[in-house]
Amino acid sequence: MIPESFIQEILNRIDVVDIVDQRVKLKKAGANYVACCPFHQEKSPSFTVSPSKQFYHCFGCGAHGSAISFLMEYEGLTFIESIQSIASQLGLSVPNEQKTSTSDKFDYSILEQALMKANQFYKKNLRASKEAIHYLKNRGLSGEIAKQFQIGFANQEWQGLQQVFKNYDDSILQTAGLVQKNEAGKLYDRFRNRIMFPIFNAKDNIIGFGGRVVDPDDTPKYYNSPETPLFKKSYELYGLSQSKKGIRDEQNILIVEGYMDVISLHQHGVQNAVATLGTATTIYHLKKLIRYSKKITFCFDGDNAGIEAAWKALNTAVEILEDDLEFYFMFLPQGEDPDTYIRNHSLDDFKQKINQATPLSDFIIKRLTTNNDLKSQENKIKFINNFEPIYKKMSSPKYKIFLLKRVSELIHLSQVEIEKMVGGKFLSVNQSINTKIKYSVSAKNTLTAKRKYILIVLINPKLFNPEDHKVFQGNSVDDEIYKAILSIIQGNETPFENSASLIHGLDDRVEEKLINELQNQIMNYAENIDLDAEFILVQSVLNNITTKQIQSQKLAMLKNKKLSELTAEEKDFLKNFKK
Ligand code: UTP
Ligand code: MN
Repeated sequence: MIPESFIQEILNRIDVVDIVDQRVKLKKAGANYVACCPFHQEKSPSFTVSPSKQFYHCFGCGAHGSAISFLMEYEGLTFIESIQSIASQLGLSVPNEQKTSTSDKFDYSILEQALMKANQFYKKNLRASKEAIHYLKNRGLSGEIAKQFQIGFANQEWQGLQQVFKNYDDSILQTAGLVQKNEAGKLYDRFRNRIMFPIFNAKDNIIGFGGRVVDPDDTPKYYNSPETPLFKKSYELYGLSQSKKGIRDEQNILIVEGYMDVISLHQHGVQNAVATLGTATTIYHLKKLIRYSKKITFCFDGDNAGIEAAWKALNTAVEILEDDLEFYFMFLPQGEDPDTYIRNHSLDDFKQKINQATPLSDFIIKRLTTNNDLKSQENKIKFINNFEPIYKKMSSPKYKIFLLKRVSELIHLSQVEIEKMVGGKFLSVNQSINTKIKYSVSAKNTLTAKRKYILIVLINPKLFNPEDHKVFQGNSVDDEIYKAILSIIQGNETPFENSASLIHGLDDRVEEKLINELQNQIMNYAENIDLDAEFILVQSVLNNITTKQIQSQKLAMLKNKKLSELTAEEKDFLKNFKK
């Protein structure tokens, strides 16, 4: 856990303009900087970075956020990795509130160095092995792609790695999964006589290997690194490091099954593929991937095993499904995998297959109506029974409503009746799935005084005045935002220096769409006005409104009283009010 105060300090000290400019060349335009947006394709720049507000905003695609979120989006880092990256740039070390797991004690860099050194050795071996080169050539791989994926070869030797690791018995080699011990206690190389595929994490460091036999009689066909402090199969994906750019360009991620599929697709022009490492796709894989693209396409063989695997993947996908995500399922002809398909057909054929992939919602209906004609009551119940677990896992309101509607049309029951059977309350679009302050569409184009107040405070958090709470007693969106800001500011030991740091504080209390709207309005709020003067004006307008409200409430109350019950002060009030 990184202390919140440290995150605030980072946001107060880093300049988002630097962070962005190091990756996307910025041009000065008035008070802001602009560039063509790195998150969508465009010809004229609508990506704006504001040095005073410390955030970026794209008027084209809506991408926005702070220095931290820029690194997350652009580099595909996790929140923590992004903080670490900025901290090291600032020369700060990230404090740790409490160490969470024992693996934190590992010096990862020593493991990474060992794996890197092993990889150099494997690559050298490959260059020297006619047999291994012949195998790869025979499979149609170019030298260039082998180099890009840093493919290597482990010789047929028991202690090959001894040539590069003088201390072959150093426990680090065992922790890294390169060397293992037999029953007699003798150490030997884990990978022998295998083509070596180094597995990289998103930060482009080697975390493990996959090794494929060259001798078809050897088993298993693929042998992977064991789970190590660096390598967790349920989190890592082969090819992510090499496919990041392709994913950004395509805004789609292809999940395939094998190492060779990823590499072969790359060579033939499909550069947005990743593979799980001999396991089924997990929610952790998907959570990692949706940071790179909101659209994910699973690719399977068209045989029964492939369809079963796809259904399993769907069941995982619905667990993290949100209304802004899209999952697709594509099937290849029987007996083909992506590697053979793209070699036997063409890039265009493969792309066409991707474009014809079945959307998640269609796959659900298709699967549940396969071998079920929905004619008898029993069949309809069977359908509902199969539908129930999927539906229950979903927390995406829009997906749920459309699905209910389709199911209702299929089995001729009302949506309410179906919801009754599959559990849960009937969902209406307005129903909140969390307690965040929700975005609501406002009809007016002009900003209300309350919204102006909120915007000014978000632009310069130092102006925030806790005394103004009297004005924000209601339960409008702006009243709620004011209260959220109040509680954040009161609960925070570090003062908020700029927009980005306060907005970061609001992130887990305010719906994303509303944050979006606020940032949009902030960007459009006149850049050259005197913010302090404007703030005083807005405050006085709000105070006047409040005074008037209090007066008219009092008036209404007094009107219900008999004249004889009024105090002298109340009579005075009535007299003055009429004037
Ligand atoms: P496949 O058996 O479908 O092989 O395994 P493949 O990817 O087509 O491999 P090639 O083309 O024969 O080289 C798919 C994936 O399952 C894992 C590997 O990650 C492999 O890429 N696997 C397979 C293993 O982990 N161990 C095995 O013994 C076999
Ligand atoms: Mn294959």
